[in-house]
Amino acid sequence: MNYYSRHLLVCGGERCTSASEDSVKATFMKELKKNNLDKEIKIMETECHGLCDSGPIVVVYPEGILYSKVKSEDVKEVVKEHLINGRKVSRLIYREPYSLDKVPEYQELDFYNKQVRNVLGNCGIINPDSLEEYVASGGYKALEKVLADMNPEEVIKEIKDSSLRGRGGGGFPTGLKWSFCAEATGDKKYIICNADEGDPGAFMDRSLLEGDPHKVIEGMIIAGYAIGASEGYIYIRAEYPLAIERLEQAIAQAEELGLLGDNIASSGFSFKLQIKEGAGAFVCGEETALIASIEGQRGVPRFRPPFPATKGLFGKPTTINNVETFANVPVIINQGADKYAGTGTEKSKGTKVFALTGKLNNTGLVEVPMGITVREIVYEVGGGILDDKKFKAAQIGGPSGGCLPERLIDLPVDYDSLTSEGAIMGSGGLVVMDETSCMVDVAKYFLTFTCNESCGKCTPCREGNMRLLELLEKVCEGKGEEEDIKRLESLGEKIKASALCGLGQTAPNPVLSTIKHFRDEYETHVVDKKCPAGVCEELFYYLIDSEACVGCRACVKVCPSEAIVGEKRQPHYIDMEKCVKCGACIDECPFNAIIIE
Ligand SMILES: Cc1cc2nc3c(=O)[nH]c(=O)nc-3n(C[C@H](O)[C@H](O)[C@H](O)COP(=O)(O)O)c2cc1C
Ligand code: SF4
Ligand code: SF4
Repeated sequence: MNYYSRHLLVCGGERCTSASEDSVKATFMKELKKNNLDKEIKIMETECHGLCDSGPIVVVYPEGILYSKVKSEDVKEVVKEHLINGRKVSRLIYREPYSLDKVPEYQELDFYNKQVRNVLGNCGIINPDSLEEYVASGGYKALEKVLADMNPEEVIKEIKDSSLRGRGGGGFPTGLKWSFCAEATGDKKYIICNADEGDPGAFMDRSLLEGDPHKVIEGMIIAGYAIGASEGYIYIRAEYPLAIERLEQAIAQAEELGLLGDNIASSGFSFKLQIKEGAGAFVCGEETALIASIEGQRGVPRFRPPFPATKGLFGKPTTINNVETFANVPVIINQGADKYAGTGTEKSKGTKVFALTGKLNNTGLVEVPMGITVREIVYEVGGGILDDKKFKAAQIGGPSGGCLPERLIDLPVDYDSLTSEGAIMGSGGLVVMDETSCMVDVAKYFLTFTCNESCGKCTPCREGNMRLLELLEKVCEGKGEEEDIKRLESLGEKIKASALCGLGQTAPNPVLSTIKHFRDEYETHVVDKKCPAGVCEELFYYLIDSEACVGCRACVKVCPSEAIVGEKRQPHYIDMEKCVKCGACIDECPFNAIIIE
């Protein structure tokens, strides 16, 4: 075995590799070889570190120095300066958004400080292509313990005692779900991993599968043992080719080692695993639609009961769980239910992975303990709002979720607190908005998505959500009446109560929660015919404040339609006939002289 004096962790995540024109890893390999350092320094391609805005990332160990936005052209300098001469390349070192002169080590970054990386612990640290690295990090120990020391009832009890709730959106207790399936009668049972992940902006499950595929597989094998299943499927959308490739390889590795297949580790338990690629329809994430899709039928939901636990895939008892739910299973078995349940709140235990996006300094993949407040996520993990703007809202739960206003910034992020305020945990989308977001427009965005994704089987969803969207469009175009706000509310409630599946039942949530928390913004749209955020085109115009304008002409230079006129060093004005409302001038003016009316 080679002894390496240094390790280079090079981000191989799809977002990072696609961000670099050439592979950073390949250039490092060439450069190390050229300098005879390839036997001394080991390059490890890792998955996403979470800091997606700063990728591609390279971490140099043992120093723990984190270089961000590394391009192939930078590699030569890192090798020469840092690895040969011992001088860090200052211009590439990652800086904290709030303390630019601080050069923290990887482990000290604010971004990671508040996180508890149980599920993502290996992501960005180990090579996801290597079974050996997974095993070296404690992988498959939980499976070994389960097969050697626990019977299926004990495994289910441990999961029940941990109070793990499904991470796919609904938050149903996992141990209870497993026990229903274990108790169901059937000559054959199935486990399904739901990796459909159709929410816009979500990449939690994909990153986990790309970064640590064996953890999910281990969780699935343990689930199979607990409920008495002999076969499992991973249902994953075809647009995730890297995750599929890593899963295929991990399954082959586990089979070779006898961790999948017949008579696993001589325990008498046999379990096979296969991948089913989905076409990428959001509705196929709904469990009954997903089952239909694996069976080769159209992915359309059906009424429940019967629930999959008793009548699922091919009519057999089936347990469906989310990727993150399965990844929690080895953690629980390794830590023990009591320790696991020590993180989180009374009714929401453990951690939750979020895809943190929007107007933040640090966006990316984060794993935080349940019960953390929105404020802590925004300011401590997310590094605060971009350009020091004001926090306006957090949209949690994707198209099924809702918006929380600034008044609720100290709300703990757990299943029940979120639901009580009209949002939901969802599968993990968290979008942070500043004052430049219009809440009516945000509701319209999510509703447009769900309307496009509706399978059309039931009238409340097919017709009702379209009517809801038309009303929102009317409001955004300045044609709304006061009555329309009430119409949106009552139609939204009716759709929630009568749609067949979760897609239709939750589609009105973004509308209802924005009306609940931002009613004044809806009223301004319908009564004053104004969009205070300057998003709904028909409802605002730009104006130059003649007292603040010094006539520097910065705006004139960026205006694409020559709409700004005025003499040098004299206040300018905007010709509204020509203005296309692109907003370029407002971003450019150094004196904040351009205002939205
Ligand atoms: C329209 C729709 C889409 C869904 N998409 C997903 C998904 O992509 N991944 C997921 O795990 N659950 C998704 N769900 C929830 C699943 O139907 C199911 O509840 C979940 O996979 C159960 O796993 P859990 O108990 O581990 O959360 C979706 C539900 C609906 C109604
Ligand atoms: S609620 Fe929508 S997606 Fe669900 S079955 Fe009805 S039409 Fe299809
Ligand atoms: S919004 Fe765009 S088009 Fe209008 S004045 Fe400003 S720069 Fe010109």
